[in-house]
Amino acid sequence: MDKKIIVAIDGFSSSGKSTMAKALARHTGYIYVDSGAMYRAVTLYGMRKGVVSKENGVDAEALCALLPEIDITFVKDAAGNQRTIMNGEDVEHEIRDLEVSELVSPVAEIHGVRQYLVEMQQGYGKERGIVMDGRDIGTTVFPDAEMKVFVEASAEIRAHRRLKEMLEEGNHATYEEVLHNIMERDRIDSTRKESPLRKAEDAITFYNNEVPIEEQMMVLIKIFNERVKG
Ligand code: DC
Repeated sequence: MDKKIIVAIDGFSSSGKSTMAKALARHTGYIYVDSGAMYRAVTLYGMRKGVVSKENGVDAEALCALLPEIDITFVKDAAGNQRTIMNGEDVEHEIRDLEVSELVSPVAEIHGVRQYLVEMQQGYGKERGIVMDGRDIGTTVFPDAEMKVFVEASAEIRAHRRLKEMLEEGNHATYEEVLHNIMERDRIDSTRKESPLRKAEDAITFYNNEVPIEEQMMVLIKIFNERVKG
């Protein structure tokens, strides 16, 4: 019988990694976890409590004290799309807006926040049979994942992709704002001290400059099938 594995998909923001991760989870029947949504939910909670803001930045100590109050789960809606639930409230839409996107990278730099969320993520993967996407899944969360993919795409392609998604979700922004946000997040995510975004040595690099999802899936399923056979 095939063994259950962990699939770690890391990459820059809006590289298309979550589309790939969701499609692979659907194909395999595995659980899908969007780790970025968890950092976004913590950011939103901090904003609501007034400890994360554009004006005053992030009060790390106050935010860490609030972490035990934040419960994050995922549910599927009728169309099979995953939605992020924070303390019983569906925050899927709100965590994607530009304000949260602008504040999430500094929140994700905080040691206490990372420790709290990494532990939660490792708990989700205890039974294996999971596809998780993020920045440090193959390096820190599941260094022993059997399948690791690192997704790359140019900043311009990623900005176009993100803007399209935002407009479809009813969140407004201009191309310049989105490109600036993406480049700024790349900088913070890849230069932060703890778990910076980097490719795990044993990850496969996937260049995703507008590769149709069907083609991506052919490649991913082939690798997946090899890995479950061990
Ligand atoms: O994938 P995303 O754009 O939704 O992620 C939002 C932010 O969360 C991103 O700027 C970096 C951070 N993040 C992280 O530090 N580690 C992860 N595993 C996932 C996301």
